[in-house]
Order: sequence, then C-alpha cells, then structure tokens
Amino acid sequence: MARILITSALPYINGIKHLGNLIGSQLPSDVYARYMRAIGNEVMFICATDEHGTPAELAAAKAGKDVAEYCREMHAVQQDLANGFRLSFDHYGRSSSPQNRKLTQYFAGRLADNGLIEEVSEKQVYSHADGRFLPDRYIEGTCPNCGYDRARGDQCENCTKQLDPTDLINPRSAISGSTDLEVRETKHLYLRQSKMRDELDEWINSKTDWPILTTSIAKKWLHDGDGLKDRGITRDLSWGVPVKRGEADWPGMEGKVFYVWFDAPIEYIAATAEWAEAHGLDDEAWQRWWRTDKGADDVKYVQFMGKDNVPFHTLSFPATIMGSRDPWKLVDYIKSFNYLNYDGGQFSTSQGRGVFMDQALDILPSDYWRWWLLSHVPESSDSEFTWENFQQGVNKDLADVLGNFVSRVTKFCRSKFGEVVPEGGAYGEAEIAVIKAIEERVASYQANMEAIEIRKSTADLRAIWVLGNEYLQEAAPWSKFKEDPEAAAAIVRFALNLIRLYAVLSEPFIPDAAQTMTSAMNAEGAQWPTDISAALESLPAGHPFSVPDVMFAKITDEQRDEMQAKFAGKSKAAELAQS
Ligand code: 2FM
Ligand code: ZN
Repeated sequence: MARILITSALPYINGIKHLGNLIGSQLPSDVYARYMRAIGNEVMFICATDEHGTPAELAAAKAGKDVAEYCREMHAVQQDLANGFRLSFDHYGRSSSPQNRKLTQYFAGRLADNGLIEEVSEKQVYSHADGRFLPDRYIEGTCPNCGYDRARGDQCENCTKQLDPTDLINPRSAISGSTDLEVRETKHLYLRQSKMRDELDEWINSKTDWPILTTSIAKKWLHDGDGLKDRGITRDLSWGVPVKRGEADWPGMEGKVFYVWFDAPIEYIAATAEWAEAHGLDDEAWQRWWRTDKGADDVKYVQFMGKDNVPFHTLSFPATIMGSRDPWKLVDYIKSFNYLNYDGGQFSTSQGRGVFMDQALDILPSDYWRWWLLSHVPESSDSEFTWENFQQGVNKDLADVLGNFVSRVTKFCRSKFGEVVPEGGAYGEAEIAVIKAIEERVASYQANMEAIEIRKSTADLRAIWVLGNEYLQEAAPWSKFKEDPEAAAAIVRFALNLIRLYAVLSEPFIPDAAQTMTSAMNAEGAQWPTDISAALESLPAGHPFSVPDVMFAKITDEQRDEMQAKFAGKSKAAELAQS
C-alpha cells in the first residue's frame, strides 16, 4: 500500500466557480483520489478556499457583509457545491484558518532566519478616486510581454507572465477605472527567490516525467530572467495573515498582511493540520504527510491545477519550502490543465458567461457533468463545451451504452428468471473472449490512471462498457431463451456480473451511478478487480438483485435548445454590457 497526498488548487472564495474551473483541477484530482483509494492506497486529498486578498474584501463589501462573515458563508456554499459534485476531499479547509496563520508566519520567520527575506522600501500605487492603495490585481493595464490590454497587476492571464503593477503600460484602477493614480513610498518584505535559482533549476530539471505543459511553463519563467525576480510577499491590507516573524512581531510591518499567493499554497499543509484537528488527532497525524522527518519520505505528493497556477507552484511555493531549510515534503508530480472554453468563447466569472457549478446541479445530476467534463478534460490542448457535444456525450455514452446495458440485462432477467442471478452453465468461448478484451482494457485504464492521463482513461472505461453492450447484442439471450434457457441463463449471469464490475470500475468517474449499480447488484464492498475472470464469477446463481430506476435520462433536443438559450441569453447581455 502506497501513501498518496493529493492537493487541488484552492478556489478563490469570491463567488461560485464555473465548469471550466471545476474541470481545471478539482474534478480530475477527485478521479485520481478515488482511483488511488479504490486500488487500496492510503490517500490524503486536500482542498480549501483561498480566502485572503482584495477580491474577498471587495466581494464582501459588495455584499454588504463583514469580510470574515462573507468568507464563512461562501466557504459553506463552496463546500456544499463540492459535495454536490461528489468531490471526495478528506478535508476542505480555509486559508483563513488559525493553522494557516501560524504556519504562514512560521515560514516567513524561517525564510528570514535563512537570509531569504529582504525589507524593501517600495513604491506602491495609490488611487485618489478610490481613496486607497490598490493591490496588484486591482490595477489593470497593457501587458508589457504580450500586449494584452486587460492584464492584471499580478499576472497576465493571456500569457501567464507574473507581473508587478508598475510593469503595466497605461495602468488604471480596476475598481473605478480611474487613471488618477499616484505612486507612494511604503516598506514591504521581499522573498529573495533569485538566490534560489540554481536549486530550483536543478529540481525542475530532475522532474523528467512531468507533463510538458507543466515543465514548459516552469522553465519558461525560470529562464526568462524575470520569472525568478524577488517578489513582494506583503501587502497594505487589513484582511489576511498579519505579518509576523514566527511568533514575534516584525518591526515596521504593523498593519500589513502577507500576500495572498504567499499564504495560499501553505494552506495545503495547514488544511491537513485542520483535518487532524477536526478528527481529534495529534500533530503527528498530519506531519506524517508533510514532514520527511516524520515519515513523509514514502509519500507521493501530486498537485493538480490550471496552467495559470503553474508558475506559483513550480517557483514561488517550492522556493518557500526549500528556503525554510526544514524537511518539508516537496511536490513529486504536478498535473496541470489547459482551459475549457464555453460555446465559442471563454467561460468568464466577471461576465457571468458559461455554466456555474450551482446552475449545473440545478439542471442535471452531477454524474452527467462529471462524465462529460472528464471525457473532454483539456489535457493536451484547450477544449470546448458546446450543448450539442454535451448532449451527444451524455446520450451516447451514459444513456445508450451504460444505462441501456444495465436496464436491458436486469429487466430481461427479472421477466424470465426473477430477481436472482440465474444458474446456466459455465461461461463459454464468447464470455472468455470478452474477459480477455476487458482484461486488456482494464490494464490500459490502470496504466492511464497511474500516468494521470484522464481523457485516455475515460476512453478505456467507455470501451469496457461498449464490450458489454456488444456482447449482449451478439449473445442475444432473448432469442436463445426459448430453445435453450440454460444458455440464456449463463449469458444473463455473466451480464449481471459485468454490471457489478462496471460499478467498481466506473466509481472514480461517476460515483452516484456506480452506487446505483452496486446497490442494484447487492454488491456492497465490491473490491477493485485484480483478476477479471474471478471478478466475473462474484455474483453466484441465486444471488438476489433488483432492477434500478433509469440511470440516465436522455437529453432531448428541446431540453438542449432550452438550456443553450437560457445560458446564451446571459452571455449576450454580458457581452453587450462590456462593449
Ligand atoms: O488561481 C486561483 O484560483 C488561486 N486561488 C489558486 C491558489 S492555489 C494554491 F496555491 F493555493
Ligand atoms: Zn501577457
């Protein structure tokens, strides 16, 4: 049994995430976590809300709420949606937790002890119209790297370059649009990550098995010269982790907080400490996942994230971890994703364009979304959500192939043999051929899951379902029943066992449907198959089962058009408002 630590990038607290966000990290990480548990590994699967920074402050102000209260409420909303999509986090934490405050201050202290923090008097943008200092992401302007005219002061979302607000050409306040900005003097802490270039370079070069998407972004910024320049890790805000040097006050830093990107990844660790506390466990319980001096040596740590998060996870966060000179666990594998687009454009939170997690669950059960999104996960390139494609994927794969198989087999059996597995003879050539074909596909499925090739894994799973359908079509127990009921019984016994196998194999992707199949087959506790032949003998003659309700209803053309129109209306309006 291996130990696998899995983290999914932390969603910002300010608002409900869209399906592009969901498939860009949380959903694929959930599949991986479920698979790793299913094959018998010990898994710690962590996510949390990213609660600090100006976006939270502004969203709270807009909602007329105290920021702490706003975050508490939104955390509950996001937690609820995570449950709705069956995201199987062991803990869904909060970056505003006391554990994260303590750890963030601790890391800052260690970095300072090791000469990796510099106090810098810097100039910061003050907006007269807004009456406040403007944090980086609330200054917009033209990216000096690619010319994108809506780049934010912390990062250009078009070319992923990390920026400082003063890098922007023609800067303006993102709050008011005002260009009446003044640069004022203030003192801040800088993380001297430039001192760690060689160490980081060597570390990234050693990761020869990482996805190209991850290493290409990491190497680009590492060698860009600019990517590793020293970065300010404090801000003039009231909402955040107060700046301290470990437990001690930091003279000159009164009233300042750490930059949200400094404390957010530390929350991966802190959330595990939150998990321990929530379960009444001691520090050893979480430290065995994170401290190599406490047993984390044998942990495999895998991070999931969208491509825009890669620079922070390959450069800044490792610099924090390494720079502490403590035996913290570094990430072993970073799986990153491209973007999912929406119906000819981009998903956009600010423009309300696309389908958001709450809306999706109002329309259809989570498995429909999980399956489509996972089978179209933007792994090797961006991918696109269209309603036609969604309808097709759901209707073909889920309704016509899997749902239809389960329904036909169980209903036929009930009508001819009753609701128990029939006896029949031993499996013959046709069944043995299917077993062999499934063995090959399961091997491929497992290899793809090990390699975190999610889309290829869905193709394997779909192929495994199709094998059952083709077998049933060919074997046609309904036409055999009259002349040879024994033969028909063996076919049905085999097919019912296939349903049980499908429940186990499908669980990482469509957990609710898997549960329906498991319950219908009375097969609670079914284990991941190590021997397909044996697995397909699990349900013996006489074993009772029940016919499940329709597992997947087809999406009709009318429903599809309705949904498309409903969401198109919103995006059109948003586009008009923008122009
Ligand atoms: O891009 C984002 O949505 C960030 N909130 C991700 C943070 S990931 C981690 F570092 F906390
Ligand atoms: Zn750019």
